[in-house]
Amino acid sequence: MDYRELGRTGLKVSRLCLGTMTFGEQNTEAEGHAQIDYAVDRGINIIDAAEIYPVPPKAETQGRTEAIIGSWIAARNMRDKVMLATKVVGRGKMAWLRKDGSPTRQSAKQIMEAVEASLKRLKTDYIDLYQLHWPDRPMRIFEGHDYLHLEGDTHPIHEILGVLAKLVAGGKVRFVGLSNETPWGVMSFLKASEQHGLPRPVSIQNAYNLVNRSFETGLSEIFHREQMSLLAYSPLGQGYLSGKYEGGALPQGSRKTLFNRLGRYEKGNGPRAISSYVALARKHGLDPSQMAIAFAVSRPFVTSTIIGATSMNQLKTDIGAAELTLADAVLEDIEQIHLDYPNPCP
Ligand SMILES: NC(=O)c1ccc[n+]([C@@H]2O[C@H](COP(=O)([O-])OP(=O)(O)OC[C@H]3O[C@@H](n4cnc5c(N)ncnc54)[C@H](OP(=O)(O)O)[C@@H]3O)[C@@H](O)[C@H]2O)c1
Repeated sequence: MDYRELGRTGLKVSRLCLGTMTFGEQNTEAEGHAQIDYAVDRGINIIDAAEIYPVPPKAETQGRTEAIIGSWIAARNMRDKVMLATKVVGRGKMAWLRKDGSPTRQSAKQIMEAVEASLKRLKTDYIDLYQLHWPDRPMRIFEGHDYLHLEGDTHPIHEILGVLAKLVAGGKVRFVGLSNETPWGVMSFLKASEQHGLPRPVSIQNAYNLVNRSFETGLSEIFHREQMSLLAYSPLGQGYLSGKYEGGALPQGSRKTLFNRLGRYEKGNGPRAISSYVALARKHGLDPSQMAIAFAVSRPFVTSTIIGATSMNQLKTDIGAAELTLADAVLEDIEQIHLDYPNPCP
């Protein structure tokens, strides 16, 4: 396993990060612990969670993912071997998430409530990377559309950073990160940090995979020039790039079969692009999942690729991709498909 610096923090994170949003829904506590054990044994030193996990988010299951990580921390006594990344939600209607039943916002009160609850579930007294899961601004999130301006009030960015500054000063959070952010959002956070002497976000966690390379359009330059880190999520397009849904297959127990909320991979040129990448991997004698993950890992602006698995076999395959270097011929073929079908699943 190779390591890269997280932003300008001096911390070295593994090129793969263990995603956990299946823990507590598709995976039991014992399975979650086995996944963390295996990942740590293979050199992964960063685990990603969120206060709302597992997915799909529900009042009955919320918090289970962090609790499973927390029981692993308590059982193994290895807190110093892993970096914990978790997230506070942005603007949303999940009134069940907060004690007073308010819609979710990144107010001081809500962020403080969220961080205390995450620390308790994680059974730790500090979070290495505390991320804003999505913005407090009124925005379309997870819908894959181009920017559409929506009117509405928003907490000023320096106020949100000010709350995070208190958490950093109090030792509860080491570094702060963004997620599902736009170029305007990232630059505004950097500006607020400089103008007000507040913590500088070190990373962004955005979707990045063969069928969604929109990060390359504006954000990648910011990340190079500002020395920030992309933590790339959904490297398999939530499973589609493994080829498991080819020809309309619905494998038992898979995310699509269970929850059927992955329409973004089935629109427009999405299915054609996915089939082309799966066929390309097979043409070159590669496992399609390993090719997709190795592609994300190989990008210079990706610091760590967040994998997710529901079985040990998947996890072994996915972690194995960290050792795969894609040949020039494979990369050239990937570029050709990208030209034919640019970002069909944003
Ligand atoms: N910040 C955000 O908004 C955000 C959003 C999404 C994810 N994330 C983070 O990123 C992590 C990974 O995201 P993701 O789960 O969407 O990643 P992904 O790699 O695109 O999809 C992972 C899923 O694909 C299937 N899979 C994995 N390896 C496979 C293999 N070798 N062969 C066949 N199927 C395989 C599994 O689902 P099935 O077994 O069910 O098919 C697995 O859960 C999450 O756990 C979370 O930490 C963050």
